Amino acid sequence: MNAFTMCSICFHSKGQWKHPLDQSSMGYKDVNYWVDIAKTLERGCFDSLFLADVHGTYNVYKGSRDTAVRHSTQIPSNDPTLVISAMAYATRHIGFACTFSTSYFPPYQTAKLFSTLDHLTKGRIAWNIVTSYLPDANENFGIGEQMEHDERYDRADEYMDVVYKLWEHSWEEDAVIRDIEKDIHTDPAKVHEINHRGKYFNVPGPHMCEPSRQRTPVLFQAGGSGRGIEFAARHAEAIFAIHPNMEVSKNIIRSTREVIAKQGRDPNEVKIFPGISVIVAPTDEEARLKFETCKKYRSPEGALALYCGWVGVDLSKIDVNEKLANAETNAIQGLLSYFAEADPDRDWTLQEAAEFISIGSVMPKFIGSPATVADELERWMEVTDCDGFNLVVANHPTGYIDFVNLVVPELQRRGRMRTHYDTSTLREHYFGAGHRRLAKDHQAFRSLPEWKLSGEPRKSAATA
Ligand SMILES: Cc1cc2nc3c(=O)[nH]c(=O)nc-3n(C[C@H](O)[C@H](O)[C@H](O)COP(=O)(O)O)c2cc1C
Repeated sequence: MNAFTMCSICFHSKGQWKHPLDQSSMGYKDVNYWVDIAKTLERGCFDSLFLADVHGTYNVYKGSRDTAVRHSTQIPSNDPTLVISAMAYATRHIGFACTFSTSYFPPYQTAKLFSTLDHLTKGRIAWNIVTSYLPDANENFGIGEQMEHDERYDRADEYMDVVYKLWEHSWEEDAVIRDIEKDIHTDPAKVHEINHRGKYFNVPGPHMCEPSRQRTPVLFQAGGSGRGIEFAARHAEAIFAIHPNMEVSKNIIRSTREVIAKQGRDPNEVKIFPGISVIVAPTDEEARLKFETCKKYRSPEGALALYCGWVGVDLSKIDVNEKLANAETNAIQGLLSYFAEADPDRDWTLQEAAEFISIGSVMPKFIGSPATVADELERWMEVTDCDGFNLVVANHPTGYIDFVNLVVPELQRRGRMRTHYDTSTLREHYFGAGHRRLAKDHQAFRSLPEWKLSGEPRKSAATA
């Protein structure tokens, strides 16, 4: 079980900053708010807190960023990487999945950042690899026009080669010897250049950081197009997906596992976590009332700004039901067919669509008592073959507190969630004790550098 949010305001439930119980408007920039959330989730034995991030404004809707700014649609937002150390300091077990885009940051910087976070969290870090979709972000980074959708993934494939070389093949496991007698801190012969030369990147190395507990952070991927799934099948250890309903989820998960198998990997080795939105209260009736209260504060326009930015199509200009699925986009392809798939028999008006996604956005909504929510989650797991969930709440942080106080004990009673942590790194939380490092057959080890191929076979990073 993972919790999904962003260092911004009323993340996937636009307008909730006005709700008296919602603290996100002031909290998102306060370290204590984040530490309290991390502690709450750790009390609920969550695997991770998962943080999204974007660089650019949602300016597709009505051709302007004004709606997004007015309704705090991911602006203002802060950088997620910095607050993780504070949360790690205040907790011992919970992991942190951090989004970082291959389109904006050089791989050398990414490798150093995530090695540092892995050291500071003692092996509790994951990287959500994204190729991103907001065109004006490129201009902000001074890197010219946004590449075409599939080429962003081609470039990301090479990007991954570079970071694998830095994380797994630059430093030998025993490079740091700290020999006081001989006055050697690190054996220079065991720190290697990577000398990467490719189409998009030239990186000589070596990596700046000594090996951390996980070496490579847990690799998450989010992106649901055919090309996105192919990328995930090659690299990801976990996929964060958005599926509008159980039937669609079942089909996508089945086909995703087939693509993973084609890459020569065990399809069950990749964990798949669909996003969900939960509103829970002691009884079904109270949960309904809670939902009705949230509706009073929602901002459908802010939600439209978000959705239009995701899919790269200005819905103020087209018929939402008929044409959307057939439109072409350079942004998030997987979400284009969302409304047609969510409820094929419904004739959505733009207003209805906007209201629907204004609480919990495109995540399936589970509203009810702890037993009702737990029943639904169990059913979802059984039908779809997913491995768990990425939880979105309507109000921060009360939604997390409610889930931890009400749903977690119910899931624990049913044997669906751990009652305590008996593993220490995030990779072990997902894959079991002893799995601190990437699996031996992972893409990162499919081509080995000279120093690993020559000489005595040594304990590889994967088995260390
Ligand atoms: C569930 C999900 C979460 C995503 N989160 C982010 C994010 O936080 N930041 C970002 O820049 N891109 C994010 N993306 C965008 C993807 O990285 C990718 O660029 C985009 O979805 C286009 O690929 P696709 O058509 O394969 O989905 C996300 C995509 C999905 C589906």
